[in-house]
Amino acid sequence: MCGIIGYTGEHHVTEILLHGLKRLEYRGYDSSGVGVLNRKKIRVNKKAGALGRLTETMEADLDGTIGIAHTRWATHGGVTDGNAHPHLSSDGSIAVVHNGIIDNYQELRERLAGRGISFSSDTDSEVLAHLIQLELQGTGFSGFDPRGGAAAHSSDSEKPSGSGAAPGKPAAKRSPGEDQALHPAGPAAAVARALEFVRGTYGLVVLFKEFPETLVAAKNGSPLAVGISQDGRYIASDPIAFAAYTRQVIFLEDRELAVITPDTLSIFDAAQAEVRRPAETIDVRSADVSKGEYQDYLEKEIFEQPESIRRAFGNGGRLDRDFGTARLGGIELNGSQIRNIRQAHFIGMGTAMYAGQVGARMMEGLARISSHTLDASELRWSNPIVEDDSVYFALSQSGETLDTLLAVKELQNRGGRVYGIINAVGSTIARACGAGVYIHAGPEVSVASTKAFTGQITSMFLLALSFGRIRHLSPSEGKRLIDALELIPDQINQILAQSAQVQDIARRFKHATSFMYLGRGVSYPIAMEGALKLKELSYLHAEGFSSGNLKHGPLALIDETVPSLFIAPEGDTLDKVISNIQEVKARKGPVITVTNADSRELEELSDALIRVPKCPEILSPLLTIVPLQLFALYLTRELGRNVDQPRNLAKSVTTD
Ligand code: F6R
Repeated sequence: MCGIIGYTGEHHVTEILLHGLKRLEYRGYDSSGVGVLNRKKIRVNKKAGALGRLTETMEADLDGTIGIAHTRWATHGGVTDGNAHPHLSSDGSIAVVHNGIIDNYQELRERLAGRGISFSSDTDSEVLAHLIQLELQGTGFSGFDPRGGAAAHSSDSEKPSGSGAAPGKPAAKRSPGEDQALHPAGPAAAVARALEFVRGTYGLVVLFKEFPETLVAAKNGSPLAVGISQDGRYIASDPIAFAAYTRQVIFLEDRELAVITPDTLSIFDAAQAEVRRPAETIDVRSADVSKGEYQDYLEKEIFEQPESIRRAFGNGGRLDRDFGTARLGGIELNGSQIRNIRQAHFIGMGTAMYAGQVGARMMEGLARISSHTLDASELRWSNPIVEDDSVYFALSQSGETLDTLLAVKELQNRGGRVYGIINAVGSTIARACGAGVYIHAGPEVSVASTKAFTGQITSMFLLALSFGRIRHLSPSEGKRLIDALELIPDQINQILAQSAQVQDIARRFKHATSFMYLGRGVSYPIAMEGALKLKELSYLHAEGFSSGNLKHGPLALIDETVPSLFIAPEGDTLDKVISNIQEVKARKGPVITVTNADSRELEELSDALIRVPKCPEILSPLLTIVPLQLFALYLTRELGRNVDQPRNLAKSVTTD
């Protein structure tokens, strides 16, 4: 995880870096830091805690025109000022910001300590600064000595802009900006040599005291994008960090290294061959990223769902009412291929995985395709069986979740067809899949996912409907479902209009410390997602179970202090869910029910009852999740916790 931003150019760098950090906070917010080349010295300010602590303590004269910055989600080493990035080399000549995990950092620390280097943090990342310093001064583990006579460029060894060539290659005439790019005595070659000793994942950017206009970046497993503008060059983990300045972007690929100056960018692959890649214009709706009239992003994003769901079905553009089906241009499967699919697999992590569980039930119910959901982090290690008649869907809001990305690559490596169901346009998973469906939820800032969840479910419903219509579903059934889908946004508005009632219920139950969430069928994943929302936001214990599983263990937890939230929409399993509620009541457990059924029994049994509008059961997740999101929001506010940035979490999980 972690967010990186760097800049070299004409402008004051601090403002650009702090703006970028604000945009990158979703990637981690345990600590943040800035390193700037200022009066020929690298000066660093870094602080544990919220970004505000860093901003408040920025000295007015800590500015320059080149610098790097980082917002951290702690992996190795606690949340302290010292463990915040950037990390300096022991002589202060190099500063590094790093996103990823250096797997062999212990071994490298020991080797560096053997050279007399002392460490000022407990992080894995700090080794990078020391390794690069040693390589640059010619005393590194690679044994390369830039001042030794062997290299034909010894006379240029101190000069950042001397002419040079990739090691082992003849010096060729280069344009001025590329001159220094891989000079063996230059900064990029030092980074490349240092990385030969590193195992793990990284997106890193390096600032050098001796090369006052140059940043060097390297990527392996963690995203990096370079922004190109007239006034300089930007580099960040996500282009959103510099979208206010430029939308011309070049994404780096794994094992690439970039040398960035105010007016040049040189990219090299693992074989040190130069890579030419045109810039793309990205569409980042940075204007959308404000709270507007809402108290926090979470509330805003919950209340945006009528609109975001409409966008997911293309404001009708993805629906074909005449044929009672959906049209998804990104799914390149023809009728006969769809008829021959035997299995569909939905993969993702966390909320995206729960959305996949709803999607699998929709696919099985509407298209009669045997469907499964897979935890992406497990899939990678499970030696999966990939068959020609299977199709895979990778779900991700951010499009950057490393577990999901690596699962996609593993499946593709085995010849699997993987389509993305993604929110972030142009994100790494979207690009890796190459085809699929964008959910168009718009930027989701709050760490807890809400509108992406309902956008994913809507998209999978369209998918299941379109596959269903090619297989078993009748036109009239297709039309009935489309009519029902089009009502959903207004029905959510009706639920949102009752938010004060949900707030009252949250107040009533704010002293409880453990909650159960229970449902059956499509409501079972909603129970899991409702519990996840509450636990991640409020830090209270919450568990989701299928209500059928209640008496197989969880019932032992029930007493008068443990409220159970039952998701009980009208449908095949309602009677069974009512029996489960009886079982809880018999143990004096308080019951909160979310339902659209007209049932006197439910009313009598429930300590609190939240009504949602009527809809076909298969679409009910889009409605029943909304009061659960509101419940988690209000209860968290009651407890005085940070709604948008829960402790220990980050919006985008780019470590595995
Ligand atoms: C929980 C939440 C996470 C994410 C998960 C996957 O509210 O947001 O569980 O759903 O980290 O993230 P994406 O969807 O970005 O792949």
